[in-house]
Amino acid sequence: MTKTLLRALAGETLPTPPIWMMRQAGRYLPEYRATRAEAGDFLSLCYNPDLAAEVTLQPIRRYGFDAAILFADILLLPQAMGLDLWFVTGEGPRLSTATRPAEVSALKGPDDIHDTLGPVYETVAILSRELPRETTLIGFAGAPWTVATYMIAGRGTPDQAPAHQLIAEDRATFEDLIDRLTEGTIAYLSRQVEAGAECVKIFDSWAGSLTGDDFDRYAVEPARRITEAMKARHPGLPVIAFPRGAGERYEGLHARIGADCIALDDGVSAHWAAAHVQPGGCVQGNLASSHMVTGGETLVHETRAIVDAFSGGPHIFNLGHGITPDADPENVQLMIDAVRGKVAA
Ligand code: CP3
Repeated sequence: MTKTLLRALAGETLPTPPIWMMRQAGRYLPEYRATRAEAGDFLSLCYNPDLAAEVTLQPIRRYGFDAAILFADILLLPQAMGLDLWFVTGEGPRLSTATRPAEVSALKGPDDIHDTLGPVYETVAILSRELPRETTLIGFAGAPWTVATYMIAGRGTPDQAPAHQLIAEDRATFEDLIDRLTEGTIAYLSRQVEAGAECVKIFDSWAGSLTGDDFDRYAVEPARRITEAMKARHPGLPVIAFPRGAGERYEGLHARIGADCIALDDGVSAHWAAAHVQPGGCVQGNLASSHMVTGGETLVHETRAIVDAFSGGPHIFNLGHGITPDADPENVQLMIDAVRGKVAA
């Protein structure tokens, strides 16, 4: 096995960690903005396999990242399950909602989502032909909880209050929704793997707002079920779980979820995570994405500190969350050079 990302996921400690960035194909890159303008809007870009493959490849060509992540969105699955989805420029996603028992039971099951999602699988197939030999192709889906928060509120929310309210008022319907999303996610990720994804990542961006038993029931348990099913269907498939905002609950999650890698946000220090999370397996992260805006010596220093903190075990260098549109593309190169030891700290 020569691909560095797959080696780290298999538990190998490498002299230089492999690198990729969440949202590495995105609005901070002029070439992304040009292709997106050609596609029209964001969803048209997601469902156009040639253009979605093109934007996936752009950061690989520019920076030589060790992994490419499929260009798509976590909200395509609820759309395939029957909800309306649209994006309001400058504001974010809007969806029709599923909160009543009849609306949840009307959602399409795992066998009926693939007509809508077919172009995504086609994007994966193009990428697995066109990526450089050393670059790992990552497929992904949202975690059931995070996707449910958008399906319940009809939009992004700062505190996921509508989803917490549904748990309080009608837990059975909420759990039905989580189960259906878990099944849909397994079907969606399986097709990505069949089309050529070499690893999958489960994005639970809002895991941090779950407290007490709800964290175990709605963040840990669905991720465990998805990971178990994916590994049963695709033996040897590495899985990365990203329960963002888990804080001290990151400890022990490799074993509890069964994931090969736990992705860390920047709310935990690399020193703490090296001592408490990395003993369980590969970790990914966790530079604050604000450094991609501000750059300079602080960026180099913080990057080296993370590389050094995790140097005793398997590590994939990444940001703690997605790169933002106001980031400077030159700072990305500076970060890569710092990780690869090409600039002095
Ligand atoms: O990481 C990657 O480069 C792969 C592609 C990817 C996108 N979204 C493209 C995208 C991935 C993995 C996602 C995941 C995603 N989408 C998450 C989980 C990760 C996270 O960031 O917390 C969430 C919550 C979404 C839902 C979503 N999509 C929101 C809330 C928004 C609007 C916010 C914004 O930045 O405008 C999107 C849009 C989106 N998804 C963009 C991209 C590149 C920007 C769209 C554009 O070009 O205007």
